[in-house]
Amino acid sequence: MSAVVIVGAQWGDEGKGKIVDLYTETADVVVRYAGGPNAGHTLVVGPDKIVLRLVPSGVLRPRARCLMGQGMVVDPGVLLGEIDALAARGVDTSGRLFLSDRAHLILPHHPLVDGLREASAASTKIGTTKRGIGPAYEDKAARRGLRVGDLRDLGRVRALVERALAAWAPSVAALGGELPSVEAVVDGLAAVAPRLLAIAADTSALLDEAIRAGQRVLLEGAQGTLLDLDHGTYPFVTSSSAVAGGACVGAGIGPTRITRTIGITKGYTTRVGEGPFPTELDDDVGERLRVAGGEFGSVTGRPRRTGWLDLPALRYAARVNGLDGLAITKLDVLTGLDEVRVCVAYDTPRGRTRDLPVDDLEVATPVYEALPGWTEALGEARALAALPETARAYVRFVEAAVGVPAFLLSVGPRRDQTILLADAFA
Ligand code: IMP
Repeated sequence: MSAVVIVGAQWGDEGKGKIVDLYTETADVVVRYAGGPNAGHTLVVGPDKIVLRLVPSGVLRPRARCLMGQGMVVDPGVLLGEIDALAARGVDTSGRLFLSDRAHLILPHHPLVDGLREASAASTKIGTTKRGIGPAYEDKAARRGLRVGDLRDLGRVRALVERALAAWAPSVAALGGELPSVEAVVDGLAAVAPRLLAIAADTSALLDEAIRAGQRVLLEGAQGTLLDLDHGTYPFVTSSSAVAGGACVGAGIGPTRITRTIGITKGYTTRVGEGPFPTELDDDVGERLRVAGGEFGSVTGRPRRTGWLDLPALRYAARVNGLDGLAITKLDVLTGLDEVRVCVAYDTPRGRTRDLPVDDLEVATPVYEALPGWTEALGEARALAALPETARAYVRFVEAAVGVPAFLLSVGPRRDQTILLADAFA
């Protein structure tokens, strides 16, 4: 039996979609455990590019069972649209895609509030994806959320919708918005209920069965460690548990079932939305990384902020996730730079530290070390030995500084553009 958690070690967009898709070649079950359609996991298969927002990235492998756990918030329209789009490409999800009946639903007032807040001068601008993620988790925590299983009883749906809309009415009015009517929301839910209920299941029990049967399980994180509600750069975070521990809560298994945790990091850093990003580059190099790396949000299309690799941040991710291995993606994007800089420490008002001053990033100054760059394109390398020595030295530097070995290097968006160094399932 093996249950491997794949987690973003930075601020999201590390390339989890490709890595999960790759590992799913040998996995039996793939589980999303947190977040919702704020995620955009990009897969490139042959000439096709597919962006998955809710469905686990294992779906393209016909033998993989895909579970969406109770830690997720699910927008019914987005989910059904995604299932239909996959079907149109010949990817049949029937009988192998299941949605936790305890997952919470994103209702129309959630994106409405998210958008109004982002537009309001009175609210802290987080730069959210405006998909209703925060307000949906707020309803969950306030114990007035609507779960997938509630759709079995439309009378209950009506009562819950009435309660939620009444609770939000004052703040929506203050923000100058207009809530949808109870009727409209209930009718919308009644229309999608049969399709959602057809895939609703106790996904925690399904996962337990798979683990007991000795199957290979992959738990697919969304967003990244520094966007985690508890461990990220609060308040500029998402509203769920993106870290590896979130896999236990959000998928419904105990920590003793997890056999390995792999952190994904780019060879540099990106961030979308507001919040501190000390190694950000506002210069030509930053623009070059953005263009070469195609650093534009897969959900929102927003240009991503780009910067150098932050080793204190990776060490922090290694600690809070208990990382066993790293997958370093987009190494090819660094080609052509004379030198590649890495942040190795921070100067803070309290002195120099190798740790990430996660709550003091605004007043912390990165301390850099410069490593020699390389000019060779890396896209055709399939073994470590095929990389230029300076690229290998870069990887070795990162491994040593983080104290975690690299299991995989990615040198391009396609499945085959990968250098496998260790077996995550072994
Ligand atoms: P929310 O998750 O839409 O509430 O957004 C909160 C913060 O998380 C914002 O900075 C978003 O840009 C960021 N965020 C949410 N999901 C992702 C993701 O999948 N990749 C990168 N950033 C994300």
